[in-house]
Amino acid sequence: MMYDNFFNFKKDTDELIHFVSGATNQMPSKFFYEGIGAKHWLTLSSKIKFNKDELMTFLDQTCMHLTNESFNYIDIGPGDFYKTHEIVKLFLKHNKNISFFAVDASYEMLTPHLTESAYGNVSKIKKLIHENNGTINACVIDLFNLSKMNIFKSTTRNKFVTFLGGTIANIDYQEFLTAMSSFLEKDDYLLLDLPINKETSSSSSIERIMKYKSEHFHFISRLNLSPEDFIYRVDQEDFINEDETAYAQSLHLVATLNKTELSFSKKEFRIFTWNRYDLEKFQKACIGSGIEVLSIFSNHNKNMSFLMLRKATE
Ligand SMILES: C[S@@+](CC[C@H](N)C(=O)[O-])C[C@H]1O[C@@H](n2cnc3c(N)ncnc32)[C@H](O)[C@@H]1O
Repeated sequence: MMYDNFFNFKKDTDELIHFVSGATNQMPSKFFYEGIGAKHWLTLSSKIKFNKDELMTFLDQTCMHLTNESFNYIDIGPGDFYKTHEIVKLFLKHNKNISFFAVDASYEMLTPHLTESAYGNVSKIKKLIHENNGTINACVIDLFNLSKMNIFKSTTRNKFVTFLGGTIANIDYQEFLTAMSSFLEKDDYLLLDLPINKETSSSSSIERIMKYKSEHFHFISRLNLSPEDFIYRVDQEDFINEDETAYAQSLHLVATLNKTELSFSKKEFRIFTWNRYDLEKFQKACIGSGIEVLSIFSNHNKNMSFLMLRKATE
């Protein structure tokens, strides 16, 4: 086992049934990384070269302002753990004592034997953390359920939470901030990278998504539902809204659950959305959620902003 502790709090079957019953046409993006989706993402990400310099320079400067000595470092959606490893090294460079929690809604994304690079990064993190008397833990859970769990709480350590890779683009930011606001306690930190609107296109993301085509529903077999119960087809075209701040792929789905065919008023299901946010609006929403913005840095492409945030109130 790669981790000192592995917690599995997954209860997605209910959510999936809610989705196929037609109550919503928004497929939660986390399903995207289930089953074969995880392997695809990890394989793809190992081919994309991420320029870590901008994020690390920003973090290095921000780290100096962290007054606490000990943290529970919680990385939501660590992916191939590349950035996670860099952040762990940075914490140790600044003499911070940490225990680490990898958190993901996808079980597969936390079983890092999937690719060599993910396995290698987790091994390095484990070594560093153990040398510094911390623990390395993993937890399969939807971020929207984090506040219900006690395992991340500590009387002596603040939380330092990261949600990187622009993943916030896949969810409603207001819902995300509400969830974070109840998860974070006073003086806990949150580091985000936020895809911002204007300028440059999101073509690389579109390309990435195209690669997943037609394999999205692998997760169904993991949820004890028979894949034969579902007939699905992914449309060949992306949906892009008028101001191009969001896009999604559409999916035609017919499902039979317990031998009953479910009919849908809409045959189009959005399964993946990529939002680009207005930085000013986002900052206001943070303040409204009791989260203060400590520092902001926009990358040289001006399409992504890094934000260091801190929970201001109890
Ligand atoms: C694009 S990867 C991010 C990888 C990495 N952080 C990086 O910067 O390279 C997004 C990850 O977030 C996870 N994720 C998406 N929605 C989630 C949710 N609601 N709760 C928990 N994890 C979620 C996915 O399963 C996936 O593993």
